[in-house]
Amino acid sequence: MTEEGAPPEGDLGVDGDALVSPYADIDDREVESSLRPRRLADFVGQVRVREQLELVLESARRRGRPPDHVLLSGPPGLGKTSLALIIAAELGAAIRVTSGPAIERAGDLAAMLSSLADRDVLFIDEIHRIARPAEELLYVAMEDFRVDVVVGKGHGATAIPLEVAPFTLVGATTRSGLLTGPLRDRFGFVAHMDFYSQPELEQVLRRSAELLGVRMQADGGREIAGRSRGTPRIANRLLRRVRDFAEVRADGVVTRDVARAALAVYDVDQLGLDRLDRSVLDALIRRFGGGPVGVSTIAVAVGEEVQTVEEVAEPFLVRAGLLARTPRGRVATSAAWEHLGLPAPAGLGAAPYGGVSRSVPGRLAEQSLFDPEQSDSRKQ
Ligand SMILES: Nc1ncnc2c1ncn2[C@@H]1O[C@H](COP(=O)(O)OP(=O)(O)OP(=O)(O)O)[C@@H](O)[C@H]1O
Ligand SMILES: [Mg+2]
Repeated sequence: MTEEGAPPEGDLGVDGDALVSPYADIDDREVESSLRPRRLADFVGQVRVREQLELVLESARRRGRPPDHVLLSGPPGLGKTSLALIIAAELGAAIRVTSGPAIERAGDLAAMLSSLADRDVLFIDEIHRIARPAEELLYVAMEDFRVDVVVGKGHGATAIPLEVAPFTLVGATTRSGLLTGPLRDRFGFVAHMDFYSQPELEQVLRRSAELLGVRMQADGGREIAGRSRGTPRIANRLLRRVRDFAEVRADGVVTRDVARAALAVYDVDQLGLDRLDRSVLDALIRRFGGGPVGVSTIAVAVGEEVQTVEEVAEPFLVRAGLLARTPRGRVATSAAWEHLGLPAPAGLGAAPYGGVSRSVPGRLAEQSLFDPEQSDSRKQ
């Protein structure tokens, strides 16, 4: 995995090929603001998070107090930024937006905090990347609505306490395991976002098609949803590409056949694998008999950097139950053999690496790679 919740180095994840990357590219950013759900009621899926959040917000409204600080954690493209904006909208509050990497000095944060008005929402995206001195300042602000501004240096330095208006911090992170304990403990409510199910993605697509004025039939939506890797951002991106195809090569209507033909042109297969994903499986199975084989060998075989294979292709292949990372190397599962239309060797179990937690149509095993308990809990 990448060190941060940002796309891997270079253009990986954002180049023209990466139609199924969960990271936002420039096009996405432009369109996304128009597709974002504005209220909790428009927010598809994440039923538990939504219900809990409703309670938190409603009780705050009744008490006339700002709600507890909220941490939104989960993989890219699942709706964290959207939810942050919704929280402010539901509270009828103003929102100030910044991000961990943008807060380099504690003073930047102090200035921002002291300019907040009563009940404002402060949204800090990628909060796990905040600099340590700023983080310490944030603890006090979150708990006591106060910042200590240090004036002077050395022995003569004094801390002047400044009051901060009661506010709600909404933090978002793709790597909650990288948050320090003290910071995590100061959030009263932590929402873990999950990958979306097939019906939820279909609902996201119906909504987006309507907003974009795309005529989409139900089976067209189903086809796109099945290839969206459980991620609304990818669903919306595929919808735009399919719409382009429908307009140029068909009568503009997104039917199942149009979606299939379009996604074949864009090289996204029925499980949502792209060319790189498939060539990794292909090398693993056809050249190395299904493994175990080291990742560097696979990388050479597909003509890519090791990092690209590890960070761009593998996470989803593992989540989809197609590839297993074992101490002896990478192994193709029987589902991977089947996916390439080959008979799996005898003795290869259905899920040799410990099973999957939930499956959805299209045989995509929805095992979340995003397990905060298992990710690195240290920041340095
Ligand atoms: N629950 C949802 N209902 C409808 N659309 C959604 C939902 N979640 C996400 N989307 C769509 O996906 C797009 C990406 O969502 P968003 O930017 O909120 O993700 P994110 O979790 O903040 O991603 P990142 O980690 O990259 O910042 C949004 O513009 C929105 O159109
Ligand atoms: Mg975001």
